[in-house]
This record gives sequence, C-alpha cells and structure tokens, in this order.
Amino acid sequence: MVNKRIYLCLAHMSEEGLEQKYIKEAFDTNWVVPLGPNVNAFEEDLATFVGKDKKVVALSSGTAAVHLALIACGVGPGDEVIVQSFTFCASSHPVTYLGATPVFVDSERDTWNMDPDLMEEAIKDRIAKTGKKPKAIVPVALYGMPYQIDRIMEIADKYDIPVIEDAAEGFGSRYDGKVLGTYGEYGVLSFNGNKMITTSGGGALICPDKKEWDKVMWLATQARESYPYYQHDAIGYNYRMSNICAGIGRGQMTVANDHIAHHHHVQALYEELLKDVKGVTVHKQPAGKYDSNFWLSTITLDPDLKVKGEENAYKTIVRGAIGGAAGVIHVASTAVTDCQPNNNVEAMRMALNDAGIEARPVWKPMHKQPVYKDAPAYVNGVSEDVFKIGLCLPTGPYVSDEDVRYIVDCIKESIQ
Ligand SMILES: Cc1ncc(COP(=O)(O)O)c(C=O)c1O
Repeated sequence: MVNKRIYLCLAHMSEEGLEQKYIKEAFDTNWVVPLGPNVNAFEEDLATFVGKDKKVVALSSGTAAVHLALIACGVGPGDEVIVQSFTFCASSHPVTYLGATPVFVDSERDTWNMDPDLMEEAIKDRIAKTGKKPKAIVPVALYGMPYQIDRIMEIADKYDIPVIEDAAEGFGSRYDGKVLGTYGEYGVLSFNGNKMITTSGGGALICPDKKEWDKVMWLATQARESYPYYQHDAIGYNYRMSNICAGIGRGQMTVANDHIAHHHHVQALYEELLKDVKGVTVHKQPAGKYDSNFWLSTITLDPDLKVKGEENAYKTIVRGAIGGAAGVIHVASTAVTDCQPNNNVEAMRMALNDAGIEARPVWKPMHKQPVYKDAPAYVNGVSEDVFKIGLCLPTGPYVSDEDVRYIVDCIKESIQ
C-alpha cells in the first residue's frame, strides 16, 4: 500500500537545488522583474536544447505564446485558423482573443493528433466557402505524442499557410530526430507546474530567426519604441517571463533529459504491466519516426469492460476541481453533459481517486465544447470516441516503479 497521494504530474526540482540558487541570485542582484540575466540565460538554454539555429522568447505562459504566434502570423478579426480539436482550450482560445474563428479539425487514430487528410479537406472547404485561406494551422502534440509533421508541413506549404506547433505538452518530443516546435514557423512550449519542466507558470515561443524573434520580443514587452519616454505605435502585451521564474527554468534545464527519460520509463512499465489486462489498452506511439516524451501515459477502456460501481457514475454533481486544480469557481449545474466519458471510465477514475491516485479523462474535444458550438468543425469521430474511453495516468518524475505497480493493481482491482 502506498500511503501518499499520487498526482498526474508534479513539478520536480534538481537534486542540487539549482533552481533556488538562480532565484537567490535574482534577489541578491535585485533583478526581481520580468526581464534579466535568468531570462536571457534560460532563453539561451532553450535555444540550445531545441537546436536548428532557432531563437526563443521566454514568456509568462504557453497561452501567451500561442497568442503572440497568432499575432505574428497576422491573425486578426474575421480570420479563420485551423486548430486541432482534440486539445486543451489554450490552443484555440487565443484565436478568439483576436476576433478570429477557430476551425476545428479532428484526429487520426494512431497519434490522436490532427488528421492531415482531414486538415487538407478543411482548408479546401474553407477556401470554397469563405473565399479566404485560413491564416494559420495549429497542430498539437497531445500528451507529448508527435503529430505527422512532415505531412502537415507538406500540405501547409502547398497552400502557403504558416504552422504554429503547439508543443506545450511535447517539450523534448521528436519527430524524425528533430525536436517538436522547430518544424513550423513558430513553436509553443509550456512550463506550467504539471509539464515536463516547470517555471511554476511560464511558456516560450520558438521563433524561426532573429527578425521574427525581435517582433515577438517587441510584442511581448508592450511594443515600446526607442524614445526616452513611452511611445507606442502598436498594441503590445506584458508577456515576458519573470526573472524569478526563469531562475527555476535554468535549474530545470539541467534535469530536462532525466525527466524525459523517466517519463519513457514509466510508459514502458505501464505497457508491460497492463499488456495482459483484458479491456484496458495503453496508448502507444506508432513505430518509425515518433519519439514522444510521454508527458502523460494514457489508457483506453473497452466500452463493455465492467468496472465496479459504474452504476454510480455521474450520480452526483462534482463540486470543486478534480485533482484540486485552482480556479474551478463555477459549480457544475448538472451531473451529466451530452458528451462525457463512459460510465466505466468515470467509475475507474473514482476507484483510483479513492485509492489515492489522480487519474483524469483525456481532453474533451473543442468542437464538443458549448463555448465553440458555432465554430466550423471537420470531424471523423476519433476525438469524440477517444474522449469517451480515455484516461490519463500519473507519469511525472515523482512516480516510482512501486507507484506504477500500485496503480496497475488498483486498475485490475477496479474491474469486475
Ligand atoms: C496543448 C496545450 N496548449 C497550450 C497550453 C498552455 O500552456 P500554459 O498553461 O502555460 O498557458 C497547454 C497547457 O497548459 C496545453 O496543454
């Protein structure tokens, strides 16, 4: 019996406490501002990590990175942007901040990421219906899994549409040996507390060259002109990363590869321990060019798998946040919605929760979110299917082999 609560993915600091060393330096030198030596050094570390002569701007969040990338691609009111539907809301919400409309595209079975054929269909149809090309394409590395970026780039190049890779969950994932976020025009990273590395909250935008980097940096720092006073010719944002947060990031970069290796190890253990459990399938990466960071390991449950207590699923309204996340202020008004995980998935989530394990349904596709009911969507049923049967399991550096064995035992125990 493990007597701690096992979370999905917790921040994990370097053993030498380098994060605190860099934070202390920031305090000692009075660089307690959203710029400074830690921010510059963190950006350098990130650029070295992603390689390919890219330039990186460190920002206050991954959401800010999506927002700035869209602005840099010229997205504005009345435009459309192709976005993977199967994702966290931060991939698409910034499109709406700009008065533009997300056009959601469904996923392929293998990777759960944007289906390139459907994407091309959507591009053609939008051009036919609106007379305009979508302004950008946003594929998402769901749970770290690489998308088919070679095919996506081929189609995007054919129509001359820039690609913004949302690699917020895919820090360190590779496709054909190259780091995600370096294929498209821009690459989004997130360093939220639950990601592969953290800065508590933070993100970064990978830019193609110095010219684009200058533009993004200018936009991220209130678009100032170089006068002795504050002169603004354009609207900018206060999105640059704090020097304190960047100190955490610098320490985290020293353990980034260890974290990725640990996630790989945990995934392999789940694959091994669950391989003979009937009705439970671990989501694996396709063979070939894919090299996921396995940010979160995920399983799917056969719809006819019987899980103990499934008759009690969705009987009560959930109050507060699953997993204790902050900011869940609105209390749900109903216990059910018209699109939700199957009862056996909810029953397994509840059984794991009672056993001290945080498990979470996979992202609910954006085209099924009430807030996006009017957005165009090109669907093939994949993301909705996976949403109904998928469950994310704990995977972070704090998850030990013993924890994985305990989690797998609890999964088996929950089955009737
Ligand atoms: C796919 C995806 N895109 C964007 C973000 C936004 O990142 P942040 O939370 O740093 O704003 C996240 C994560 O939180 C994410 O999972």
